[in-house]
Amino acid sequence: MIRVRDAILGIEPYVPGRSIKEIAKEYNLKESEIVKLGSNENPLGPSPKAVKAVKLETKNMHRYPESGLDDLKRAIADYSGASPNQIIVGGDGADEIIDLLGKTFMDPGSEFIVPLPSYMYYEYTLRPYGARPVYAKWDMEENTVDTDSVIESINDRTRLIFLCTPNNPTGGLISEDNIIRILESTSALVVVDEAYFEFAGISNIKLLEDYENLLILRTFSKAMGLAGMRIGYGISNTRIIDYMHRVKPVFSLTRLSHVAALATLSDKDYIKKSVNFSIKSREYLYSKLLQVDKIRVLKSYANYLLMDVRETGMNAGQLTDELLKRGVIVRDCTSFKGLDEYWIRVSVGTMKEDDRFIDALKEIIE
Ligand SMILES: Cc1ncc(COP(=O)(O)O)c(C=O)c1O
Repeated sequence: MIRVRDAILGIEPYVPGRSIKEIAKEYNLKESEIVKLGSNENPLGPSPKAVKAVKLETKNMHRYPESGLDDLKRAIADYSGASPNQIIVGGDGADEIIDLLGKTFMDPGSEFIVPLPSYMYYEYTLRPYGARPVYAKWDMEENTVDTDSVIESINDRTRLIFLCTPNNPTGGLISEDNIIRILESTSALVVVDEAYFEFAGISNIKLLEDYENLLILRTFSKAMGLAGMRIGYGISNTRIIDYMHRVKPVFSLTRLSHVAALATLSDKDYIKKSVNFSIKSREYLYSKLLQVDKIRVLKSYANYLLMDVRETGMNAGQLTDELLKRGVIVRDCTSFKGLDEYWIRVSVGTMKEDDRFIDALKEIIE
């Protein structure tokens, strides 16, 4: 018998958002008819400068990637207000940075804290290291973290604490005061996941000046429109970043992703337009959903909205399936721990896409 590591045996497969190709095949639809609002992608598409840079770089595909990424770290430092040696860049998006946190900090039996519901990939990525998730609470009424529940979960085995703000999938924020309370309650590393910070206009990067046990996690997948290129980064103090560099796969960021990231950061107009576009569309979609009887929608600071659908008489799986038949992909949140089977997350699209979703939803429930 082939022997698999014990830590792997208890792991449930991660359930990602479903792709247009998959749905077209399963529901016998044309790919062009499908509206994808399931994975919090950028409805505007990528920066034209990124597309051009990638095309030009294709001629160098036979070369290995750059490993130092100095120019990209400088550009990220300018964008974030940190210095280049405080930055680590991952080539499988922010997900790679989470994996590096696992490699760097998690021993078998060590613990990480996640207030639920939150991004499920933390657990998926860290369990293979033999690490144990400890669940704290997200206050669904206030749509923010239950800070006491996090602090009460801290013990000698705690190595990492994940605070996602805006939180995926709820869209709520964690206040600076509460982040500070948690930072001051522990010597474990507090990971503030700012994957969606641009849509809230709030960052906690300044706290790096005062706290050694903080890492800010970010991505190019959302406001930067590069989900398919898989670029993420972490910002912390140089000591932590240096440890993480010891275990980082040296060539994980491809040449094409590298130039796409650089070109997007240089395209300030695109970044501004992309953020404003999603915020405007989010507020539009929110106002439309407030008008739909039987749906309770949570206020969001990200590029998606979470809604409670129990009053419709259907659960999230049934409603999602009806939407799929009409060519609209949204996220059934049943696989998110901490939520029951009545929650759906819808990403902000173009206003036309938002309307397609609203019309299909009304048709199903009215
Ligand atoms: C909260 C949060 N963190 C991190 C990520 C990972 O992003 P990336 O695409 O950079 O791996 C996501 C992706 O959806 C996310 O929602």
